[in-house]
This record gives sequence, structure tokens and C-alpha cells, in this order.
Amino acid sequence: MFESSSLLAFANATESKPAAASDIQEVLDLTGYEALVDLIRREGLDKIPGDFLEIGCFLGGGTAKLAKVAAEAGKRVWVIDVFDPAFDVTQNLAGNRMADLYKKFLRGRSQEDVFREATAPWSESIQVIKEDSMKVKLPEDLGLAFAFTDGNHNAAWVKSDFKLVWKRLVPGGWAGFHDYGGDLPEVTAALNSMMTEHDGEIRRVERIKKRWILLVQKRREIPERKPNEV
Ligand SMILES: C[S@@+](CC[C@H](N)C(=O)[O-])C[C@H]1O[C@@H](n2cnc3c(N)ncnc32)[C@H](O)[C@@H]1O
Repeated sequence: MFESSSLLAFANATESKPAAASDIQEVLDLTGYEALVDLIRREGLDKIPGDFLEIGCFLGGGTAKLAKVAAEAGKRVWVIDVFDPAFDVTQNLAGNRMADLYKKFLRGRSQEDVFREATAPWSESIQVIKEDSMKVKLPEDLGLAFAFTDGNHNAAWVKSDFKLVWKRLVPGGWAGFHDYGGDLPEVTAALNSMMTEHDGEIRRVERIKKRWILLVQKRREIPERKPNEV
């Protein structure tokens, strides 16, 4: 799930005292959201209709980067997270449970407190939904220009999160998915199966391999299904 050696060193820390602000800085943005901001700018997603949405914000360093772009564009970032670091018990190839990694990263701090601090300058452009993404009810009329999912790594959630964002993506919008081709093979398999299911609606697929990011663009025109197709 995390490739950089500095993050691994952080994950292996054993101190029980709460992390200092400077320590927590290292793990505020685990994915490297600059890559997502670059996509938004390159594809002009800040200029087409629709908000941004993120499933799985953890400490909010990435959310803040998305929210800065959203604020400039007059959009909002919808954030869905359970804010319960113990919730996801999926194991990576090394046998580490996500819940245990999150606990180590937090080093005694509250996920929600760190998130609020990291995103404070952009809070007016952020709509937080503290809930299991499988249970979330979004407004019916919410359209998305860009979405990024990095929530629960169990295949059932990965598929459910794909469905949640895909049906709300506007034509020409992009969705990003974390942990594709990384150390959580069930995430990669689930995303492959969703791409197969939605094949006819996909215009372009890109990967940022070193960050384990999959990027998928929705077609501008979705072909109508024939009457006998399910
Ligand atoms: C890997 S972290 C997100 C990291 C963040 N995207 C980043 O790159 O900095 C995954 C997040 O998903 C959240 N999460 C786990 N299960 C969830 C669920 N069922 N619904 C919503 N959020 C969930 C966890 O609380 C955690 O904050």
C-alpha cells in the first residue's frame, strides 16, 4: 500500500507518545495527490460541470490539495470516510492489516482532529460525510467531474465504491483508483472486473505505476444498450 522508504520507517515506529505535528506531516498525503491535481489541470476537469469527490481521505493532506483546486473553480470536494482507523482489516501481501498500519501512522493522534487541521484553510469547499461508503446516500443530482477512491480495500467495497462514483461521473469526467497493481491484489482484481463490466462506457485508461494509481475516463457519449442487453 505504501512504497516510499520514509513511510515504511514511519510505519515501523514503536513510540507510544503522540506524534509531533512535523512527524504527522510525512503521512498527511499517502498517495501523492499532486498527480491527481496534474490530471485535473491537464484535462480541464476544473472547468467542466460537476464537483470532486474522494472516498478515503485519512489525514486530509490530499483532500486539502483537491480542495484548493475546487475552491478556485467554485466547486466542492465531497469526502466520504468512516474516520475509524480500525474499520479496514484487509491484509496486504506482507500480511499487514490496513487497520494496524493506520494506527502506526497516527501514533496516538485522532484521525478526525488531524484531518480538520490539515483541511482547515479549505473547509468551506469541503463537504465531509462520516460514514461507511457502502451506506452513503449522496444527493440525487450530484454530478462529478473527478473522483478518487482509496477507502476500504476489501473487494466488495472496491466494487461498491467504483459503482458509487462511476454513475455520478459526468461525460468526459475522470475517476482515479488507488492501489491498482500494488500490494493488495484483490483491489486490482476488483477494479479489473469493474472495468470489464463498464467497458463500453470507458474512453481512456491511464496508470501512474509508481503511485499505484489507475485513472479512467468516462466516454463523452455513452452508447445506448440494446433492448435485449442486461
Ligand atoms: C489508505 S487511507 C486513505 C489515504 C488517503 N487517500 C491518502 O492518500 O492520504 C483509507 C481511508 O479509508 C477509510 N475507510 C476504510 N473503510 C472505509 C469505508 N468502509 N468507508 C469509508 N471510508 C473507509 C479509512 O478510515 C482511511 O481513512
